[in-house]
Formats: sequence, C-alpha cells, structure tokens
Amino acid sequence: MTPAEEPPFLPWNRPLIGDEEIAEVTDTLRSGWLTHGPKALQFEQAVRDDLGVEDAFAVSSCTAALHLAFLAAGLRHGDEVITPALTFCAAPNALLQTGARPVFVDVDPLTFTIDPGAAEAAITLRTRAIVVMHYAGHPCDLAAFRALADARGLLLIEDAAHALYATRDGRRAGSVGDLATHSYYANKVITSGEGGMLIGRAALVRRARLLGRHGIDSSVWQRHGTRSTADYEVTVPGLKYVMPDITAAVGLAQWRKLPAFTARRAQIAAAYTGALAGLPGLATPTVQPGARSGWFLYSIFIDPAAAPLTRDQVAEQLAARQIATSRHFTPVHHLDLYREHANRPLPVTELAAARQLSLPCYPAMTPADVDRVVTALHEVWKG
Ligand SMILES: Cc1ncc(COP(=O)(O)O)c(C=O)c1O
Repeated sequence: MTPAEEPPFLPWNRPLIGDEEIAEVTDTLRSGWLTHGPKALQFEQAVRDDLGVEDAFAVSSCTAALHLAFLAAGLRHGDEVITPALTFCAAPNALLQTGARPVFVDVDPLTFTIDPGAAEAAITLRTRAIVVMHYAGHPCDLAAFRALADARGLLLIEDAAHALYATRDGRRAGSVGDLATHSYYANKVITSGEGGMLIGRAALVRRARLLGRHGIDSSVWQRHGTRSTADYEVTVPGLKYVMPDITAAVGLAQWRKLPAFTARRAQIAAAYTGALAGLPGLATPTVQPGARSGWFLYSIFIDPAAAPLTRDQVAEQLAARQIATSRHFTPVHHLDLYREHANRPLPVTELAAARQLSLPCYPAMTPADVDRVVTALHEVWKG
C-alpha cells in the first residue's frame, strides 16, 4: 500500500470538543478570573446535584483527588487498604504517599471489578478502607461493598475515574462511597484536559478542600473583594490541588454532554458486541443485570487456545491497519515498585493482563470508524 492509499490513523481515544467548550473558556479568559473561582464552583455544583452527594471539590486530577481522599480519611503508616491490582497506579501510589499499604485482591471474572468475597477475606485488624474501581465503566457491586464497609467499620472510597454516568441497582457510581473520585484526563469519558473531582460526605470533603489549598482556611475567590488576599490562616500542612477556572470551563461544558456521550459509547459497544459475537476465542464485555455501564472501555478478551492469534498479535495486526488499541492494565503488582506487595494469587487479574485488549470506543468515532474496526477484526480472524 502506498502512503497515499493508507487508511487514516484511528486513535484508541480522542476527545470530542465543540463550540460550547470554546465559548465557556473564552468567557473565562475574558472574565479576568483564571484560577479556582466561579466556574469551578459551578462545575462542583453540577456534579453535586447530578450525583445527589453532599459535597464536591474540583481538583487538578483524579490522582490529586485520591491523595486528598486518603489524607482526609486520616490514613497513615501501618494502615492497610484493600484495592484491586487491575487498575491504574494512581490510587496505590497515593496510598503509599500516606504511609498506608495497598493490599491487592482479585477481581470477578465477569466484570473485572473488585470481588467482594476476596475483599472480605483480606480484612485484618489493620484494614482501614476499601478502594474500589469501576473497571471500564462497569460499577462494581456497590451494595455489597457498602454493606461490607458498614459491617466492618471501614471507609469505602470509589475510584470512579471510569464511571461518571454509570449505575448499579439504581445507585450512581460515585454516590455510594464515603468518598469518590472522578478523572477528567484527556482520554476519559469527558475531559477538561487534566482534572478531577473529589465527591462525598461533607465533613471529609471539607477537610480535603482545606488540605487541597495549602491548608488555608478560605479560598482566594472568597477573599477576593471582601478581604485582603494576604489575610489568611494556615491550620494544616496542605498541598496545592485546586482546579483552575480555565480547566473548569471545559469540564462544565463537557459535563452537560455526559448523558449524550455515554449513550453514544453504549451504541458503539452494542455495535461491537453484535458484530464480534461468534469470533472464536473472542469474548465481549458482560453487563450485569441491574447495571448501566459508562463504557469508558470496550474490552475484548482473547483466549490464545481458541483464537487464531494471541492478544498481542491481534493488536499488531490492527496497528498494521492503522487502528490503535490499548491494554487495561499492566496490573499494579507487576510494576517494579509493587512486586513486594503481591502477597496472594490473583488468577483473574493475571488472565485479564494476558488477554484483555481495549478497542477504540468514543463519541468522536463515526459509524464508518466502528465498521472499520469490525471489518479489520473479521479479516484478522480469517487470517
Ligand atoms: C482507574 C484510574 N484511576 C485514576 C486515574 C488517574 O487519573 P488522573 O490522570 O486524572 O490523575 C486513572 C487514569 O488513567 C485511572 O484509570
């Protein structure tokens, strides 16, 4: 194929930004107020109202939200926190920053979300919290985790980076934990470039807000106009994690599109599931009864014993056709820093690590893009 005949590159993910985001940012740039202020407060209120939670704090990333969650929860050296290894390193890294130790448990083989039975079996006298993660946008068994946390006196923290508009048994992901976090990173369900939200119980979010703005007792926006910006008190050794208004402007416009974006993701997922059923050795994602997935990822699982190619060979064949894919995730206990934390077998996690492949699935895709991925996979299976 000559370069002129090559199909265009189809990225694994691409944000969908419209005139609404540009108008909100322009408004902010013209307003004279660029840092955490009125737009961030509007964004916080939109998330709070939508999820029906007590409070929300807009921050610079989901990682920042997780770090603040763990600090506000009072985690410290010697504490154990139960969490899946099939996740991104952000939560385990932030846990280590507090001195607490992540205890990795396995995921369930249908949704690849943390298994409540495995979590319960890992509880010790040192356990302080459970951090769940809604893998690919499918909520974990929130009712089971809420009941477990309550019965054992533990904090429940939801890393809802993948699940902004997902529900399970009528409860919205992000609204069940004592605290929960969102990511608005560039490849997420909605994006503000970088950004995150800490959501949850009022007292904990209030503490996190203090910790996330240097430990200062008021925001610059609150002091602006009424008090001198130099008139403040520091009560705890805080960090600087606030979301600036330029970022919040993008996030706010994207948040309004969340239902429509999720509907489009679900459509793409349904098209894939219909078109890929029957390819030997290829398993499509399962949605549990009572669950609405946010479809951050469309994960396929390739069984090398039944499929004509391995997962990595399929990824190479798609790349040769200019179609990008990704893997979610290299399990955290395979990463150098965490090898010593791998203290129990995680068979389902290992299976996902070997077989999982994320196909392009995002609202900026056209129906022709989706057909292209399907056709390419059928070609690859035919050899
Ligand atoms: C499950 C999960 N949690 C947290 C993060 C970190 O998000 P951020 O980049 O907003 O800090 C990611 C990012 O990919 C993620 O996948």
